[in-house]
Amino acid sequence: MKDPLLVHHRPQWKTHIGFLLAAVGSAIGLGNIWRFPYLCYKNGGGAFLVPYLIALLVVGIPLMILEIGLGHKMRGSAPASFASISKRWEWLGWWQIIFVMFGIVLYYSVIIAWCFNYFAFSFDLAWVQDPGGFFENFLGKTEEITTPFAIGNIQTLILFSLAVIWFLNWIIVFLGVEKGLERANKLFMPLLFFLILILLAWSIRLQGAHQGLQVYLKPNFDKLREPGVWIDAFSQIFFTLSLGFGIIIAYASYLPKKVQVVRDSLVISIVNCAFSFIAGLVVFSVLGYMASELSLPQGEIGNIVKDPISLSFVVFPKTIGMLPAFSRLFGIMFFGCLVIAGLSSSVSILEAFTAGVVDKFHYSRKAVVSVLAISGFLGGVIFTTQAGIIWLDIVDHFLNKYGLVVGGILECILVAWVYRAFKLRQHINHFSLWKLPAFWDYTVKIAIPLVLGTILVNSLIADITKPYGGYPWTAIILIGRDWLLYTLFFAIVVAAHPWKIEPSTRMLSSEA
Ligand code: PHE
Repeated sequence: MKDPLLVHHRPQWKTHIGFLLAAVGSAIGLGNIWRFPYLCYKNGGGAFLVPYLIALLVVGIPLMILEIGLGHKMRGSAPASFASISKRWEWLGWWQIIFVMFGIVLYYSVIIAWCFNYFAFSFDLAWVQDPGGFFENFLGKTEEITTPFAIGNIQTLILFSLAVIWFLNWIIVFLGVEKGLERANKLFMPLLFFLILILLAWSIRLQGAHQGLQVYLKPNFDKLREPGVWIDAFSQIFFTLSLGFGIIIAYASYLPKKVQVVRDSLVISIVNCAFSFIAGLVVFSVLGYMASELSLPQGEIGNIVKDPISLSFVVFPKTIGMLPAFSRLFGIMFFGCLVIAGLSSSVSILEAFTAGVVDKFHYSRKAVVSVLAISGFLGGVIFTTQAGIIWLDIVDHFLNKYGLVVGGILECILVAWVYRAFKLRQHINHFSLWKLPAFWDYTVKIAIPLVLGTILVNSLIADITKPYGGYPWTAIILIGRDWLLYTLFFAIVVAAHPWKIEPSTRMLSSEA
């Protein structure tokens, strides 16, 4: 057989650190800065770290190993990799990248756009008089907009920033794996780490910071009896590590032959989770400062933190305005961090989707990226309307709770049962210095599908008995459920199209 490296020309990371930074860049995103600290607070403070770490060990790291190993072995995007195992499963790969690209990333980019606006507002602390009212005004939220179907007007400021964000997404991915993604992440990630460490050193020294940290980390182990806490931990691990998005598979397909799958998976997962933890320290130190300035009792800190969005865009801005010195700089750095973290994640799905289309249809990469960026911008417009935040809430809930979880279960079944876990383990161990133990097979064969299956059933029961977020049922069905069904439909249609070149010919043999 011809060497697959010669049959299919494939871009490659120029340096190993380039790959690691890009994967870490995808993993570290808005989810680490605005969702993790909030979840931690809501679910028992320090006690939440227990289910979170269990989720990381049981699902996060084993799946990270699976996705990196699979992308490396199959040398293809998610659809090509799944199709190499079995053509009947190709739709799953398409579904993952379609519902992320035409779902999650559409609203995710709008939140990056808000951050970009707030980054600009930081220069003159525009929100300072009334951060809550300012944010509502910014979103165009009014009393009349109670259902998502009364969409109201487009908010031009948000639309403008959304165009900027998509332009940046486009240019980075357009330039290619090495010149675009690798270079951008080599700049973004060190900058992000640098900024967050400065913010940490700054915020933990603020007066009253320890009070906030107590609220953040005080363990309330009773909370661990609630299933919701466990569901949150497992869903967050999926989202935060970019698993089930088809991203890690695509990024790993650009690796050279010799790779350390086990070590790299550990590095990416641990750096990502450590970053979340540090972001939490920053956020809660700042909240502690606010409580002490306003002489609020400790318990009150909790009442202020109602949801992750108002935490980042109302509570945090308010506190920034109160800082004794350099408050503008703090705002610029905080929202700058959010924009950088968000961009390095959104480009990763653009790449994962582009890889899928180029692998199968052999269109020009540049044309695909350009069409995708324009579609991503246009698709995001609905989230820039006055009802945007309602759409965002519903789509986010359903795609995360169902899309990622169902995709994850099926991915495990496909790789562990259809392809066979031990075959992938052998491939990984052939190149890895740190060997993957045999119990990994059981983790991906049994433990992960079982755990995710339980979460799925629990979420289903909760969503069937009560309309999510109190929204009208029609909105939930037409936006939440149907979004998933349409993307599934498209995935099946695209998968039915024949391949020009058999996907399995790109597979890397482990004998060489
Ligand atoms: N891992 C990202 C985060 O935590 C999630 C993400 C990745 C979202 C890629 C969109 C695209 O924010």
